[in-house]
Amino acid sequence: MSSEFTLLMCAPDAFDLKYEINSWMSIENRPDVTLAAKQWRELHRIISNDVGATVELVQQEPNAPDMVFTANAGLVVRENNDKRVLLSRFMHPERQVEVAPFRAWFEKHGYDCTEPPETVFYEGEGDSLWCGDTLVTGYLKRSDITSHNWIAEQLYCEVLPVELVDGRWYHLDTAFFSPSPGVAAYYPGAFDTYARDVIESHFETIKVVEEEALQFACNSVVLGKDIVMPSGCPRIGAELRERGFTVHTADMSEFLKAGGACKCLSLFI
Ligand code: ARG
Repeated sequence: MSSEFTLLMCAPDAFDLKYEINSWMSIENRPDVTLAAKQWRELHRIISNDVGATVELVQQEPNAPDMVFTANAGLVVRENNDKRVLLSRFMHPERQVEVAPFRAWFEKHGYDCTEPPETVFYEGEGDSLWCGDTLVTGYLKRSDITSHNWIAEQLYCEVLPVELVDGRWYHLDTAFFSPSPGVAAYYPGAFDTYARDVIESHFETIKVVEEEALQFACNSVVLGKDIVMPSGCPRIGAELRERGFTVHTADMSEFLKAGGACKCLSLFI
């Protein structure tokens, strides 16, 4: 049981598709919100009951249909016993309404909140994932290239910025995850050639095939030896099982319509 992990999630009380801000979203293909609620409850059950992680909840705002994707709230920094969060500055006005309620939640729970400089877009853990002691950050589609400077200054850690080049994988967490320190699982087609070289030269890698990357295989939550991933990704699932992980799968069909899945729906706090 992985009770050492605490995640922030947001029940989809106001989840819907009301605008199109990524290539997955189409007003013509709105989610079935009843089914989405069921899928979210199952994901919550897997993370809390099957894996044993702690889940905290933030209430969804009625005017913020994408607030369920808590990975974009910010990046929580765990330094000593300080509770600190680097908040996001969303690129799209449609999501900027989420900053205030997320900030309110963090302040209420005793976190010190730092906002990015006004000129810098930054979308939190969606574009920042640890691989061991290195923070890998995605840029171009949502977070700015300059966001990594700001993060490195804030955290005093090694930050590896990688460019995302395909609109279907617009956040780092749609195309990259780290099952264990020093190991990167990623879909190469989402990155420019230089970023691929950087990833290959820094980490041991596991390549995810396009078919499974399209099922959001990389949008997996790593909780020690437990990995929670969207269903429909048998190849990467088998590879991870061979490496000794317990793989849990969740049907995320309704959230995929908004361009998100397991990892987007959770934030490490
Ligand atoms: N519709 C949301 C957006 O386009 C989905 C966000 C998914 N989050 C993530 N961390 N990949 O912003």
